[in-house]
Amino acid sequence: MISKIDEIKKQALTDIETAKDSPYLEAIWRKYLGRREGKLTKILREIKDLPISQRPKIGALANKVLQEIDERINKAKNCLSFSQKGKSAKQGDITLPGEKVELGHLHPLTQMRFKVAEIFASLGFKILDGNELETEYYNFEALNIPASHPARDMWDTFFVDSPQSSLLKSKKGKYKLLLRTHTSSMQIRVMEKEKPPLRVCVIGRCFRNEATDASHEHTLYQIEGFCVDKEVSVANLIYTLRGFLSLLFEREVKVRLRPSYFPFTEPSFEMDFSCLNCQGKGCSVCGQTGWVEMLGCGMIHPKVYEAVGYATGQYSGFAFGIGLDRLVMMKNQIDDIRWLHSGDLRFIKQF
Ligand code: FA5
Repeated sequence: MISKIDEIKKQALTDIETAKDSPYLEAIWRKYLGRREGKLTKILREIKDLPISQRPKIGALANKVLQEIDERINKAKNCLSFSQKGKSAKQGDITLPGEKVELGHLHPLTQMRFKVAEIFASLGFKILDGNELETEYYNFEALNIPASHPARDMWDTFFVDSPQSSLLKSKKGKYKLLLRTHTSSMQIRVMEKEKPPLRVCVIGRCFRNEATDASHEHTLYQIEGFCVDKEVSVANLIYTLRGFLSLLFEREVKVRLRPSYFPFTEPSFEMDFSCLNCQGKGCSVCGQTGWVEMLGCGMIHPKVYEAVGYATGQYSGFAFGIGLDRLVMMKNQIDDIRWLHSGDLRFIKQF
């Protein structure tokens, strides 16, 4: 008899767990506890036929199981009224711990992109992204880098080899299509369409035929900024970049300019800023120099104005190109740029 009662209990609890609605629960109640046909009710009726010595023990057990089944059925009914229609009583048990909802978040590169856009917008710059697929004309030629120029090696890229599109005819000639190596091509596209005063910030993806290492990727993001107006000077360039870096890193950032060379700026500079990791004292991030190289910049070359049809000597302006990935690395002390595109969730979840 004891094993029979245990078996009934097991069956009843299994039925209750899989019940999907109240009518089904009521049917379960009738199946086990119903006055006439209930499996447990029948057992209770049979107790009187047992030897007197066994009756108290079996009776107590059967009543305990009856109570338990009844309670479970009531509890399951309550749960079903809270849970979604169609789910089983077990799934809807409000006493179970809740299911954790996994929320995603923006990639650190996207977070930086939004932050940079916000800062430059607050400084009065218009934010653009531009074409990733470019022509040789905009990527090189109009930026004073003709076909024979050695600077093309420095910015070697991926050419698009399609019979229809590899040579693009325009009034400026025939030019191959390529994946842009820098956002500087947007200087030309914007200046061709608009007249100064211009304050533009382009944030977008660039590509290079690059052997990757801890600080070089074949796919990178750049921030191009340029300002064209009357009487724009190097002082305006320094003030803008120092202001931007201080707002970005939320502290005073020292900058220094070193002479450099870009065919589309004259004079050209590399701008370094004081290492935030060691406050300029010297560490492994800055190669013990106290300075970190972050961007190229300069005053826009007269040849660029010529290419876009601005009258000689009418305007002056500055331009700069910053590696967005490198900013993310500096801000978060990331030691290898390749983490950023690795798709490794263990890395991404830290931001
Ligand atoms: C240029 O791309 C110029 N167009 C920048 C410029 C704009 C100069 C306007 C003057 C006026 P450069 O190749 O140095 O320059 O790249 C600029 C920045 O992009 C670098 O300082 C670096 O932060 C980042 N960068 C360059 N190559 C890579 C790479 N392979 N991986 C990651 N970041 C890179």
